Amino acid sequence: MQPDLAHRIVIVTGAGSGVGRATAVALAARGAIPVLVGRRLDPLEQTAAAIRAFGGEARVMPADLRDEAAVAHLIGATISTDRTIDAIVHAAAVGLYGPVESYDLARWRETFDTNLTALFLLSRAAIPVMRERGGGSVIAIGSGAGKQGYANLAAYAASKHAIIGFMQSLAEEVRADNIRTSVVNPGSILTDFGGRSAAEKAAAAAADPGKRYLRPEDVADAVVWLLTQPSHAWTQEMNLWPW
Ligand SMILES: NC(=O)c1ccc[n+]([C@@H]2O[C@H](COP(=O)([O-])OP(=O)(O)OC[C@H]3O[C@@H](n4cnc5c(N)ncnc54)[C@H](OP(=O)(O)O)[C@@H]3O)[C@@H](O)[C@H]2O)c1
Repeated sequence: MQPDLAHRIVIVTGAGSGVGRATAVALAARGAIPVLVGRRLDPLEQTAAAIRAFGGEARVMPADLRDEAAVAHLIGATISTDRTIDAIVHAAAVGLYGPVESYDLARWRETFDTNLTALFLLSRAAIPVMRERGGGSVIAIGSGAGKQGYANLAAYAASKHAIIGFMQSLAEEVRADNIRTSVVNPGSILTDFGGRSAAEKAAAAAADPGKRYLRPEDVADAVVWLLTQPSHAWTQEMNLWPW
């Protein structure tokens, strides 16, 4: 039987922009209630307004996911408002660019804290809630750079490789609790991530037909698909490339 997303409480991180926003909108369009998380309030409010414009529902919960207490507060506030957590989609991330020898330690740590440790903190806090309700899903947005390293991308690539190892281990721990874990590894996406704006990327693609991008909605569709797979099926990892 295909799971129904109506009234499902899904924590979506990075929900103020790009993939996180598209995912929150797509989930709300299917009747889910996304909990919108990011550091800045304004972009989250804009996502919520887009959802409310078509009659959808969303919660706005600004939080800095590098902060253990902020993650605990986010999970606690979600439970007091909605009594449950059905799924987490961790799309928040930062990039760090340049050769290894140029890296500042604080920026290296920020990359791992946002991309990987936040996923650990969210999972640690939400899994007991999911176990109690009889199951759930944890979805991490990885990257093509989580499958292959690239020059000038070592910190980001390492953090995205680490997500896969973390999620493979977590999967073994929570499978018996009916909690499914999935990583989506997209190639380049038309968002403002990565030092160039979506408009600049689109202009580059227009000038070079060999350069292709996914749209944030493509990743959102993949997340919706993962969350609505039949309950007897599990996609652990999905590599999603522009075509
Ligand atoms: N764009 C690409 O080419 C590409 C390719 C492969 C994979 N990805 C992955 O796709 C995901 C989404 O990226 P995107 O392209 O949509 O980029 P984006 O628009 O820059 O989204 C990143 C989001 O993360 C949030 N964020 C950053 N640090 C945070 C923190 N400490 N606490 C809470 N939220 C934080 C940001 O919001 P605030 O600044 O308000 O906190 C922002 O909304 C990321 O995991 C990225 O690695 C992107």
